Amino acid sequence: MVGAGYVGLTTASCLAQLGHSVIGVDVDATKVDHLNSGVIPIVEDGLESITRQMLDAKRLVFQLGYSDSIKSAEFIFLCVPTPQDEDGSADLTYIREAVTSLLPFLASGSIIVNKSTVPVGSTLVVEEIVRREDIFVVSNPEFLREGSAVHDFLHPDRIVVGSSDRRAAQRVADLYQSLNARVIICDPASAETIKYAANAFLATKLSFANAIAALCEHVGANIDDVIEGIGQDKRIGNQFLKPGPGWGGSCFPKDTRALVKIAESAGYDFELLRGVIDFNEIQFDRIVDKVRKAVGGTLTGKNIAVLGLTFKAHTNDLRDSPALRIVEHLQLQGATINAYDPTVTNPLAQVNICKTPIETCDMTDAILIATEWPEFVSLNPSEIGKVVRSKNMIDARNILDADLWRAAGFTYQGVGR
Ligand code: UGA
Repeated sequence: MVGAGYVGLTTASCLAQLGHSVIGVDVDATKVDHLNSGVIPIVEDGLESITRQMLDAKRLVFQLGYSDSIKSAEFIFLCVPTPQDEDGSADLTYIREAVTSLLPFLASGSIIVNKSTVPVGSTLVVEEIVRREDIFVVSNPEFLREGSAVHDFLHPDRIVVGSSDRRAAQRVADLYQSLNARVIICDPASAETIKYAANAFLATKLSFANAIAALCEHVGANIDDVIEGIGQDKRIGNQFLKPGPGWGGSCFPKDTRALVKIAESAGYDFELLRGVIDFNEIQFDRIVDKVRKAVGGTLTGKNIAVLGLTFKAHTNDLRDSPALRIVEHLQLQGATINAYDPTVTNPLAQVNICKTPIETCDMTDAILIATEWPEFVSLNPSEIGKVVRSKNMIDARNILDADLWRAAGFTYQGVGR
């Protein structure tokens, strides 16, 4: 397993759990040391315990860099980052570097499995670096969600394997046999497209929900009821329709932009997806507008309490977090920020990081719920009401009982409620 980040670490520990022997390779010495002593750097439900069990069972070990031990590997999974280039396209530098470093250690008949989210056509790029008839390159995209990655790995909706060699594809699919999942074997370009199309569709679904929420505010409808009503239609489904502050994280923003770029390079203007991306920016603005409206029309000199900073609950990941984007906009318009997140203790630029929600709300003009941490649901409006300067609640995750907060004298604004 090359790369021990979110995807590589989860895949390494879970494949070991399925009975395979796994070597996790990373270029970060401190990380490798920590991992070998069972300390994992991310908040991921169940991952630490599986990792420790697998280390103890000697089915998993982490090593620094590339070495002869890789020669015994039948499968080499690439799980290195594909960051966003300046123009929005995916940068393949880490993939190229990893494959080049692997070259001296590839055993005949081994399979390079691409798990990183790579532009359509990247399987060919890897094949061209390897240039060996006896080595196969297979695309096997991941669909794990942060926070529930272990659960998602062990209960996949499907396993997608893309290869021009049917037997190599089947060998990769067989690694997951004990999961009894539906397997889709296709060509590499289709497998790579499936990964991007899935994320693009999910982002579109969320932007649609946010747009309907905006419509609800205009026509006096309630988004909770509307979502329940449309979600009962099996063709639509009731998942992934929860309105919020806009979508973020390390995947959707990067992958949607990359797909627009992939389409553009192939001569297709993916206008619909461009619209979805632009609309997400508008959603951040809509939340800022709600805060500004709550504090009387101007944010200059106002102190805002932001509850939640991570891009979603049950993770400590701040990458492309909607909360941070909104904080930035609030600051630009003159507000000062107190913030609290159960997983964030390190300082953030010009944000006063507090230790508790109540400390965060002290002498503030409005409170913004930016991440859906369960502990915010049970906040006591009367206690909070005693410490704030003005009683304004903006619930960008629709997690609070609006009546309860209104009864305690707060103005309450949700999203589409
Ligand atoms: C996403 C996909 O869900 C995974 O299937 C995929 O494997 C992964 O990207 C990836 O490409 O690696 P993740 O980034 O962990 O997973 O986050 P999601 O749970 O999908 O949430 C993305 C954003 O949408 C978050 O900001 C979240 O708060 C927001 N969201 C999600 C909503 O606003 N409402 C919802 O109903 C669901």
